[in-house]
Amino acid sequence: MFNKLARFFLLFCFLATSVSYRATFALNAGGTGDISGVVKYDQISSFPTVVCVDGIKGENRVLIESIKDKKVAAVLSALKTSYCAVTDKDGKFRISDVPAGQIILKVWNEKLGSVSKGFEVTVEAGKEATAEIKLPLDIKYVGSDTCKNCHKAKDKGDAYGKWKDSKHSKAYEILGSDEAKKVAKEKGVDDPQTSQECLRCHVTAAGADKGQLGAKFDMKHGVQCELCHGPGDKHAKTRLMSDDDIVKKGEIDRPTEFMCLGCHNSASPQYKEFKFEEFYKKIEHPNPKKKK
Ligand code: HEC
Ligand code: HEC
Ligand code: HEC
Ligand code: HEC
Repeated sequence: MFNKLARFFLLFCFLATSVSYRATFALNAGGTGDISGVVKYDQISSFPTVVCVDGIKGENRVLIESIKDKKVAAVLSALKTSYCAVTDKDGKFRISDVPAGQIILKVWNEKLGSVSKGFEVTVEAGKEATAEIKLPLDIKYVGSDTCKNCHKAKDKGDAYGKWKDSKHSKAYEILGSDEAKKVAKEKGVDDPQTSQECLRCHVTAAGADKGQLGAKFDMKHGVQCELCHGPGDKHAKTRLMSDDDIVKKGEIDRPTEFMCLGCHNSASPQYKEFKFEEFYKKIEHPNPKKKK
């Protein structure tokens, strides 16, 4: 009888402590923390870079009107995310009151556009997390013809064919049209096919150094796979050497809406309001063999 009571008592104590433990844990998992960080450049001069927590929508808390750089302001207002910052002249930034947890930082700047790679940071409530983002990424662009070798099978989603049929593959070509020349003239641009003013949103790796481009890379192919998926040199080589279909995290990026908004914003002279779900439907290329 005594034994039974003692066991019951012990069980009661155990339950009581585990409940209170969970309560404090939940409290910590909520709450907010700050992120202070730096964006470091290799070879590129320091210019403003937009840094945002990916995936959290809401009112933009950065005072867009106070930002003098019009291109940066256009990107910021398109993002509609609450947790953004713009780097200062030393590349430093600070985002405060970020919900605690594992978050992904994404960056945009004029030269590189939206960088598809995400940078993971763990934010603890009441604490300051630090982040160091090194740009540009040390990988080469190989061009969509290289991706075609492995991504044109119909039963695997034919990403190449779908891209080829989309407007993105013609984004450079269109800059040679009469319409483009008219648009360019209004902007004081002579030749849209050679001006960064247009190329930065109409081709892949517009601002990259020559050393970052593979031998087969051709800018004439417009907005290519690697603009959205990041430079694919490492992924293409790894897959060539293995017949394993399991792609490790970090080998090639899976972009989010953040990527699109780097170009589909009011800095585009031909801007049409961008609705992600609607636009994404027109370009999606899922692999039907993979379960979501
Ligand atoms: C040598 C073959 C090969 C080449 C070249 C190749 N891939 Fe892949 N890729 C694969 C295989 C195999 C997979 C895994 C199966 C799948 O998802 O289709 C894959 C998966 C992917 C995925 C999904 C990754 C994930 O997280 O699930 C993306 C995105 C991708 N490739 C993009 C590209 C891009 C962009 C290029 C060109 C720069 C490219 N691939 C070139 C073989 C290749
Ligand atoms: C901030 C990014 C950005 C810049 C800079 C930019 N464009 Fe575009 N452009 C786009 C996007 C995105 C579209 C697709 C229209 C849409 O859906 O918003 C587009 C569409 C176009 C179209 C229409 C194509 C069609 O199919 O009807 C033309 C023409 C064009 N751009 C010319 C130019 C010229 C010329 C310049 C340089 C003076 C330029 N663009 C600079 C992003 C940009
Ligand atoms: C405009 C941006 C964009 C371009 C250009 C683009 N993709 Fe994608 N791709 C995406 C997005 C967005 C996804 C979905 C990511 C996700 O589901 O997490 C995706 C998914 C994929 C996947 C994974 C499919 C799955 O269901 O697992 C592969 C493979 C892929 N893309 C290959 C390519 C190749 C090859 C090209 C060029 C021929 C290309 N993509 C061009 C944006 C793009
Ligand atoms: C590097 C800049 C850039 C990025 C990033 C980008 N786009 Fe585009 N997009 C363009 C340009 C430029 C055009 C116009 C091309 C043309 O008309 O020849 C365009 C056109 C389109 C169109 C055709 C619009 C129409 O009028 O039919 C769709 C749909 C689209 N993009 C969806 C997306 C989605 C979804 C993403 C993100 C996953 C994305 N884009 C990312 C530059 C970009």
